[in-house]
Amino acid sequence: MVKAVVAGASGGIGQLSPLVDELALYDVVNTPGVATDLSHISSTAKVTGYLPKDDGGKIAFKDADIIVIPAGIPRKPGMTRDDLFNINAGIVKGLIEIAAEVAPKAYILVISNPVNSTVPIAAEVLKAKGVFNPQRLFGVTTLDIVRAETFVAEIAGKKTGSELTVPVIGGHSGETIVPLFSKVSPSVTIPDDKYDALVNRVQFGGDEVVKAKDGAGSATLSMAFAGYRFAEKVLRAAKGEKGLVEPSFVYLKGIPGGEEIAKATGLEFFSVPVELGPNGAEKATNPLTGITEKEKSLVDVAVQGLKTNIEKGISFAHNPP
Ligand code: NAI
Repeated sequence: MVKAVVAGASGGIGQLSPLVDELALYDVVNTPGVATDLSHISSTAKVTGYLPKDDGGKIAFKDADIIVIPAGIPRKPGMTRDDLFNINAGIVKGLIEIAAEVAPKAYILVISNPVNSTVPIAAEVLKAKGVFNPQRLFGVTTLDIVRAETFVAEIAGKKTGSELTVPVIGGHSGETIVPLFSKVSPSVTIPDDKYDALVNRVQFGGDEVVKAKDGAGSATLSMAFAGYRFAEKVLRAAKGEKGLVEPSFVYLKGIPGGEEIAKATGLEFFSVPVELGPNGAEKATNPLTGITEKEKSLVDVAVQGLKTNIEKGISFAHNPP
């Protein structure tokens, strides 16, 4: 039996999978409605909705196998992901505290922005409660990969979908997002005059959506697709399927292969391709070997930004306002 929890389930990002037997929805509003609506889908999952009253959070999270967290405010035009910190940091901290208490073994997938800071917050909360397992904590950066796949396919004249694998590493905001076009599989040639614009579009693709939605929020449908893709891979790997690799923003030192990437970047957290398995992130692959000079300079910029974002998260977890 697989129990999945979505915290922030009444927002724009939601999901359902045949690999899930029980889906518990938690939010500060509207979960009874969302749960009733979803329960009419002819899937095998039993769907329940919870609100904070009567310990709804603890009941929803209890013994979950996987907890997906898209709770918190999204961006409006002109905002960076870091502008969401003041509100979302506290929301994520509170939700992780519940997870630590009643579902310490769950795979935790953090979608709430700024991911570069909310994942370090989650790690610190789990550490303080003595239940941190780095192999089971993931910052969801899949949307950056999905965008890169789409944009590269457009330029290279390929079909999207499963035809291209484009590694995107680093973090999940602006210049911390580093697409590695030299490692696209099968390989593609990006014309020199299109390279910078393509990098920029992957890094700031989220802004296109925020701008087009004109005040009504940020990516939800493409994010739901990306969140589903990542969560489904985690669950398939948990059930024993091999060879499932996807980049994710993880605590490097706790994952086999991660230590050397931590040394190379000087960072504790970084998004790298991780091989998934029953233990969660079974292996981190060093994405920095063999990259081009241009990619090296993108990584250098990303490392600087990430350092600040990570420190901000850790310091919030230790001294919340
Ligand atoms: P939304 O505003 O539509 O939904 C957020 C939901 O969180 C709301 O229903 C709200 O009631 C709920 N919520 C607030 N406080 C909560 C709490 N303490 N416990 C449980 N639920 C709570 O926002 P949307 O568009 O669904 O985005 C959610 C988050 O995901 C944002 O922070 C956004 O920036 C982030 N995001 C991340 C992406 C990524 O690639 N990692 C991509 C797109 C969005």
